[in-house]
Amino acid sequence: MSRFVVKDTYFKKAKQDGFRARSAYKLKEIQEKYRIVQKGNRVLDLGCAPGSFLQVISDIVGDQGAVIGIDILPVPQLPQKNIIAIMADIRDTDIKTLLEGISIDRLDVITCDIAPNLSGIREADDKNIAELYHAVQEVVKKALKPGGNFLIKSFFSDNFKDIDSQLKTLFRKVTVFKPAASRTVSSEIYFVCHGKRS
Ligand SMILES: C[S@@+](CC[C@H](N)C(=O)[O-])C[C@H]1O[C@@H](n2cnc3c(N)ncnc32)[C@H](O)[C@@H]1O
Repeated sequence: MSRFVVKDTYFKKAKQDGFRARSAYKLKEIQEKYRIVQKGNRVLDLGCAPGSFLQVISDIVGDQGAVIGIDILPVPQLPQKNIIAIMADIRDTDIKTLLEGISIDRLDVITCDIAPNLSGIREADDKNIAELYHAVQEVVKKALKPGGNFLIKSFFSDNFKDIDSQLKTLFRKVTVFKPAASRTVSSEIYFVCHGKRS
């Protein structure tokens, strides 16, 4: 019952408010509580399609900021001028070259809402998830500025403790949060990480 109430409420609200997905409200809630993005920031959003995180971040960073999205799927054009959406698989992306190509010299924040495409074959899925997590970590290590913030949806539930301790070596503060907009039946949670260690 609660699953459908939550879905219905946020799904309808997203349509009314012009957001591309209900995920917009998860990010809004996280932002309200943890202030991970500031006006003027350069933000990279991994797994950005269909684009609701991009919409929320674009609004926060404003004209002086920028938000770059990467996804294996295309993102239908958004009107905001501070959004750049790139179609790519993060496992095959050289992040430094990509950022240089769009003249971005620093990233203040990285968000990652990637959901891996699962086949149902345990061995293949575990490999895919491990590769994805490695790729995300590399992007954070190479491209996020010291002191920068990072938000990642955990789809690695079996490895929760390992990921928590790895993130704590990379960031000064790591908080686990489940937004109200996230379905209660889903095991989805977010790691909210502040202050990348230099
Ligand atoms: C839950 S959706 C993201 C929703 C998005 N945050 C929004 O607000 O619109 C997860 C996304 O992860 C993307 N994804 C999965 N594997 C990926 C990969 N290897 N590289 C880039 N994106 C990937 C999927 O294509 C999908 O669009």
